[in-house]
Amino acid sequence: MALLYHCKWEEGEQIRADLAALIPDVDIRIWPDVGDPAEIEVAVVWKLYHGELARFPNLKAILSPGAGVDHLFEDPDLPAGVPIARLVDPLMSDRMAEYTAALTLWSHREFDAYADLQRRRIWQQVPQKDARNRRVGILGLGALGQTTARRLQPFGFDLRGWSRTPKEEPGVTSYHGDGELVEFLAGSEILICLLPLTPATRGILNTATFEQMPRGATLINCARGPLVVVADLLAALDSGQLSGAALDVFDPEPLPPDNPLWTHPMVRITPHVSSLTAPETAAPLLAAQVRQAQRGEPLDNTVDPNAEY
Ligand code: NDP
Ligand code: OXD
Repeated sequence: MALLYHCKWEEGEQIRADLAALIPDVDIRIWPDVGDPAEIEVAVVWKLYHGELARFPNLKAILSPGAGVDHLFEDPDLPAGVPIARLVDPLMSDRMAEYTAALTLWSHREFDAYADLQRRRIWQQVPQKDARNRRVGILGLGALGQTTARRLQPFGFDLRGWSRTPKEEPGVTSYHGDGELVEFLAGSEILICLLPLTPATRGILNTATFEQMPRGATLINCARGPLVVVADLLAALDSGQLSGAALDVFDPEPLPPDNPLWTHPMVRITPHVSSLTAPETAAPLLAAQVRQAQRGEPLDNTVDPNAEY
């Protein structure tokens, strides 16, 4: 069996090496050196050029070395009918929960306000809210959203989550579907976005959404840049409707040097690092999916091509 590999991340080469050690009988071909396209049966790819996957007539599985699959569905020539699977890795969930918890506590404990006071050499205490009265909303209660909710619970936050289908997550008030979004947002003083980027979620964080949140709310976006309408976000920050935003993902990435988000005093930026794929845990998960494809078995963590996640 031949496998097509393409992943330009810093960890990409290590993931490939670990995968090669786990499935030594599989001929891993690094794009663009693919050899005979008819021999490729599995593709492990991240942001491959559009149209490329359509060249492989015997593809049995397309595997994402990350949690998101939007990079695949963006390809207008994505071969129909080939199962697509993604990474669901508990270590990635833990890493994401560290990031979201850190930023939630940062916002809750008013560290931005203290940084500003420090710059101005002002010794002043900012009123402190009780965590039990701090309403934290998680957009997307999937693998990452649920772990985030579980990590935030010990702090006592008043937690709520929003998903497409109903959820029963202990300690979390659950909302689902478009009909319950407004009610969910109205109780989200700190909003953590962990939604996949799909046709249904693109641009979901916009002026209308921000206006439904409590005045002075904070946004933490760790999912994908195009979920946010940046002009609307800047307007909401400037009007005081939002009091801050922590952003890990952008459109495009890297964020261009002249983008106004870089210098906005109420925006915290990290370069898409909230949960990096870890070779040591990702490679065994990918190897298991390759073996499933080889045996003609259903793959772990397939996505629904109609929903695109
Ligand atoms: P999951 O598929 O496990 O969870 C997605 C959640 O979003 C589910 O709860 C789902 O609802 C909900 N959802 C999807 N569409 C809608 C909709 N239209 N309306 C309401 N809810 C919706 O994904 P993960 O938790 O594993 O990952 C989420 C995203 O995080 C990834 O797609 C990726 O883009 C991003 N990510 C970012 C990283 C980073 O480093 N910045 C790292 C890893 C991932 P339901 O449960 O009902 O299906
Ligand atoms: C992912 C990511 O989707 O790193 O895994 O963004």
